[in-house]
Amino acid sequence: MKKTRIGILTGGGDCAGLNPAIKWVVKTATDDRLQAERGVQYEVIGIRDGWRGLVRADASGGDAEGWLVPLDQAIVRTWDRFGGTMLGTSRTNPYDPRNDQSKKVLENIERLGLDAIVAIGGEDTLGVAARLVREGVNLVGIPKTIDKDLWGTDYTLGFESAVNVIVEEIDRLRTTAGSHKRIFVVETMGRTAGWLALEGGESAGAYIILIPEHDFSVEKVNELVLEGRKREARYEIIVVAEGAKPAGGLETVRDGGVDAFGHKVLGGIGEALAKEIMDATKLETRSVVLSHLQRGGAPCAYDRRMGRYFGIAAVDLIVRGDFGRLVSYRNGRITSVPIGDVAGKLSLVDVKTQYDTERYNGRRTILANG
Ligand code: F6P
Repeated sequence: MKKTRIGILTGGGDCAGLNPAIKWVVKTATDDRLQAERGVQYEVIGIRDGWRGLVRADASGGDAEGWLVPLDQAIVRTWDRFGGTMLGTSRTNPYDPRNDQSKKVLENIERLGLDAIVAIGGEDTLGVAARLVREGVNLVGIPKTIDKDLWGTDYTLGFESAVNVIVEEIDRLRTTAGSHKRIFVVETMGRTAGWLALEGGESAGAYIILIPEHDFSVEKVNELVLEGRKREARYEIIVVAEGAKPAGGLETVRDGGVDAFGHKVLGGIGEALAKEIMDATKLETRSVVLSHLQRGGAPCAYDRRMGRYFGIAAVDLIVRGDFGRLVSYRNGRITSVPIGDVAGKLSLVDVKTQYDTERYNGRRTILANG
């Protein structure tokens, strides 16, 4: 029987949870008993560095540059314990209008004999995936991003591991903040979505949480800080999302840059806010940017488990020939949605039901929200 060849890649920012997903795609696709039961034969080829690998891997050249790596159960056996991605990643956009390489990708898929592609990524990687699906490529997606901002799924790989990092780092800051009676402004990632700041801040018990979905007033932040001190708090932890901004102001952008997909490179709001607080309240205020620490380290238990479920579900879709879909987690169930429906939309914090605009924190009524 001819083996169906599955190509698998990870694109965009790395995070914890990618390797468990890769492992479970390989394990499930190449499981002898399942193959016999399903009457199929699969082989899995890892593609290095996301879409860049599919632009560069030229089958006619014999893969001299090593863009492809055949995967089997022995190779991936321990991968679920490790963070990042063993396949490497990139923010290459084959549809970049300044250098459109999408034809090359389509040619290489054909030449390499890839019958199906598993693309593990966030908004940008899946945006490319959706366009390839429209061009007739047999593709399924697996959602990942620490930003948890993908439409169509309640979970994206990497999010809970990143939240764990936020909690661990804030726990560390508490002891030094308390010893010195300092305010610490902790800047989290998340782009235009407040999930990391909100759920990281809630988990860590932050005093103030500022998210991009609700523009904040600096005066109000200062009032809340002084109010906290009156209640004899020795220190305050303020979590601010990189995309948060003061009312009437703009997002803080690093080096004025944009990435290959046109996203602003955000960063710096934590430092700017710490300065404003210190000037206004005269309380010693420091800032910490958690930055890529949030994407690093081993996947937490939840990401290992979700990576497993998402990987298995991706193979289920391939077996059924149900292409053009993104594996998703909705209302407590693993399911899937059309990739085309996901592109161009974001899932953001619903301020009305999930954020307290008076205290700049998570909601204190939960059942009342229905
Ligand atoms: O999308 C994931 C993310 O970590 C964002 O939260 C952040 O703004 C961005 O990637 C950082 O990207 P880079 O690793 O290219 O600096």
